[in-house]
Amino acid sequence: MTTLIKNGTVVTATEIMDADVLIDGEKVAGIAAPGSHSWEEGAEVIDASGKYVLPGGIDVHTHMELPFGGTFASDDFESGTRAAAWGGTTTIIDFAVQVFGENVMDGYETWMEKAEGNCAIDYGMHMIVGDVTDQALKEMDMLMDEGVTSFKLFTAYPGVLYSDDGKIFRAMQKAAENGSTIMMHAENGIVIDVLREQALQRGETDPIYHSITRPPVTEAEATHRVIAYAELAGCPLYVVHMSAKEAVEEVAIARNRGSNVFGETCPQYLYLGWKNLSEPGFDGAKYVCSTPVRSEDQGHQEALWRYLATNDLQIVSTDHCPFCMGDHPVHGTQKRLGEGDFTKIPNGLPGVEDRMRMIYHGAVGEGRLSLNRFVEVTATAPAKMFGLFPQKGTIAVGSDADILVWDPEETHVMSVESSHMDVDYNCYEGTEVKGEIDKVIARGKVLISDGEYHGEKGDGQYLKRGTCQLLI
Ligand code: URP
Ligand code: ZN
Ligand code: ZN
Repeated sequence: MTTLIKNGTVVTATEIMDADVLIDGEKVAGIAAPGSHSWEEGAEVIDASGKYVLPGGIDVHTHMELPFGGTFASDDFESGTRAAAWGGTTTIIDFAVQVFGENVMDGYETWMEKAEGNCAIDYGMHMIVGDVTDQALKEMDMLMDEGVTSFKLFTAYPGVLYSDDGKIFRAMQKAAENGSTIMMHAENGIVIDVLREQALQRGETDPIYHSITRPPVTEAEATHRVIAYAELAGCPLYVVHMSAKEAVEEVAIARNRGSNVFGETCPQYLYLGWKNLSEPGFDGAKYVCSTPVRSEDQGHQEALWRYLATNDLQIVSTDHCPFCMGDHPVHGTQKRLGEGDFTKIPNGLPGVEDRMRMIYHGAVGEGRLSLNRFVEVTATAPAKMFGLFPQKGTIAVGSDADILVWDPEETHVMSVESSHMDVDYNCYEGTEVKGEIDKVIARGKVLISDGEYHGEKGDGQYLKRGTCQLLI
């Protein structure tokens, strides 16, 4: 069966062209000047006049059902990937977790079981290595054969997922040997723990202290350190969820000397700050995540947008990791575990459905990034970084037909009411954005059209990924 998307403006990371797109089965089969072909015959026709035709979004940082602080992220693979599709994302890469004392492969199998048959869109896996042992290093090789080609380690969360410098360096040496990428959560968790304890002793218990006790220097120092070790080991390094301008400066300096160091940021760091963390009552807990959202007065948000424009940051992901605020019938009052003690607030916030609209709004709508760069940071660079290009991340003959029909004139109001994530608040509640999703097509199947969902669980398939294709 063929589908023709006609009269739209096709946008990739490098091109903007008036073109018709032919989909045959799951793949893009042709791109041609409007009217220069006879593809309409026998095809399902989508008229994209006045609209953009974009590659589906790729969110390379999600945590469905992540265990954290005595509870679990409220979206599972079924609800989370369906919400992603509603938000114009057609691929996610989630994090399988090896907890301390467990085998890496067991953690991987557990995550694969959670995902299998439940996803609305295609998905890959990174592996969190929480316990770098000789056995874990061997299992990193085994995972490469499964298409898991990136491993996340933490300088944060001592006693939980934290690895010391020696363990991090050993994992980096393994990555240099087997061609994988090391992803780092870079914050100095040891120093942060001291600051947290001292804050609590002073009676500073509100959500805002989550950010105050994780100052920019703790992110910048850890980023500097892991860059040094990655350069010594010779592996590609990807620093996740960056929020401090001083930390991104470290990435920029390393890239300038030719190192394969990459960075991502997330919508929350581009839009949210201490005003949100200080919302009345306990509402600031909605915005507690690590790295933290930062003070609006220090210029972090503007700097992050600038670093995206100059390619010192390559990717915008979400770090989607939602926890409920109120009495959710299944998940209960997750964030309230930290009422009276900010250190007990589960870290993470929802975003998988919000990313494409919020980034289009700030980038194209408000003139900070070009339309091509919007596509690059939300789809093309994620695909190249994590070994999915050109199957994913672009519109080209032979690529998967993961396509958005995007209406640049339509508006959308961000709201918990209109969203599909399994969580009871939206971080951008009430924000009106220009640019709205008209249709979402994933591997040739129309998942969203005219505000209706036509997909089903199990539409999404596991993606065995190749290695990093981005060079500086
Ligand atoms: O606050 C966050 N980021 N929660 C998810 C876990 C992580 O560190 O990515
Ligand atoms: Zn992290
Ligand atoms: Zn994360």
